[in-house]
Amino acid sequence: MQSLAIIGSQWGDEGKGKITDLLGAKCDVVVRYQGGNNAGHTIIVGDKKIVLHLIPSGVLHSHCVSVIGHGVVFDPEAFAKELKTVEGAGITLTRENLKISENCSIITFYNKLLDGQREAKGPVKIGTTGKGIGPCYEDKISRKGIKLKDIFDLENLKQKLAANLIEKEALFKNLYQCEYPSVDEEAARLFELGHAIKQFATDTFSFLDKSVSENKKVLYEGAQGVLLDIDYGTYPFVTSSSTSCGGVYTGAGVPGKTINEVLGITKAYTTRVGEGPFPTELFDSTGEFIQNKGHEFGATTGRKRRCGWLDLPLLKYTVKASNLTSIALTKLDILSGMDELKVCYAYEYNGEKIDCAYPGIDLSKVKPLYKDLTPFKDEFKTDSLSGELESYIKEIETFIGIPVGIIAYGPERSEIKFRKDYF
Ligand code: GDP
Ligand code: IMO
Ligand code: MG
Repeated sequence: MQSLAIIGSQWGDEGKGKITDLLGAKCDVVVRYQGGNNAGHTIIVGDKKIVLHLIPSGVLHSHCVSVIGHGVVFDPEAFAKELKTVEGAGITLTRENLKISENCSIITFYNKLLDGQREAKGPVKIGTTGKGIGPCYEDKISRKGIKLKDIFDLENLKQKLAANLIEKEALFKNLYQCEYPSVDEEAARLFELGHAIKQFATDTFSFLDKSVSENKKVLYEGAQGVLLDIDYGTYPFVTSSSTSCGGVYTGAGVPGKTINEVLGITKAYTTRVGEGPFPTELFDSTGEFIQNKGHEFGATTGRKRRCGWLDLPLLKYTVKASNLTSIALTKLDILSGMDELKVCYAYEYNGEKIDCAYPGIDLSKVKPLYKDLTPFKDEFKTDSLSGELESYIKEIETFIGIPVGIIAYGPERSEIKFRKDYF
């Protein structure tokens, strides 16, 4: 295999960082292609915990080139902070091992302000991360966006920011009545931040084109999850990018290139941060138990993650929506030893029983139907799994029609078992 896309198959935080780090060890290039620093990808190495928001999770391997493609929305301030974190972990980043597309869209202060104001005062609360992601993608699509290459030329930057601010100013002054920086202040801030970034800015399209032509092994690291996809997700409670496999082609900039396999990272239960429907959400002590044992707090915002049983109709949908070819089942250690084990295998909806959460279904109106499985009590000290856990895995594989290629049972690199070969 030469290329693999790693995609979150639920509402994010499935353990993509850990799996990308492990598979990145076998690759030449790891690429982030959408989203921004709304992502929080955790990697644990020994007693060190590194949370990456923008920099690809292959960065811990010195032979790996990390690429941030043009589909990413890029906050220069967040990047400067992350650069320090990574350098603090003993990794030196140079223009050889980190390449950022000069066509990334820049998240401006105005984008962050608008995100915050809308969440606080607007008619619909999405529960965003407040990082300015949606407003930045809006600027890009409406062709008013600031690109990374723009921040290296102060005069050009001032002109673009002035054009960008015209409409927003009306919102800041009249609707939200909030303070905002002048164009000169914002231009000076971004221009200053640009100094440290300039060395990494490049034409990543040509770099990836060459890498693929030279048969290099490329791993595409998705952020968020399919259910947060702007088109395939639970709209409007989604993020603003194409989080599913389709985003790789446009966001990394590899149109026409083959992606050999798509690995869906799947938590053995379900979590969600922010607002929106969640059919299997648990509001009782079981949900609280999973939340506590799984340390289910957002890696970016620290918010509590809502928890529930594994939702197979949703998973069946994401397999189709993102063309998944196998899944990695993570956090099995959290379910191990529980008194009960349930999976949702169908919904009752409008008097019918359905087993796939096709779009058009109002998820806030479905009744989840559960199957009780025999709980497993594995401690994962040997290579073999208990019959109960094998049955749980089989149940999932049979339902979704693709294999569980990886199981993970702890945050550390060693706490993983490959059931299938990747690279
Ligand atoms: P990502 O956004 O998909 O990369 O996931 P996050 O890093 O936001 O959240 C996943 C959390 O679960 C992190 O704290 C990981 O260290 C942790 N983790 C990953 N896999 C496992 C696992 O199999 N078991 C346990 N207990 N923790 C895991
Ligand atoms: P990783 O890559 C979980 C959620 C937010 C909110 C919605 C929109 O770590 O899995 P946004 O700030 O993107 O406009 O927020 O999307 N969200 C995530 N939830 N994991 C993430 O990333 C997320 N990134 C955004 O909580 O509900
Ligand atoms: Mg996360």
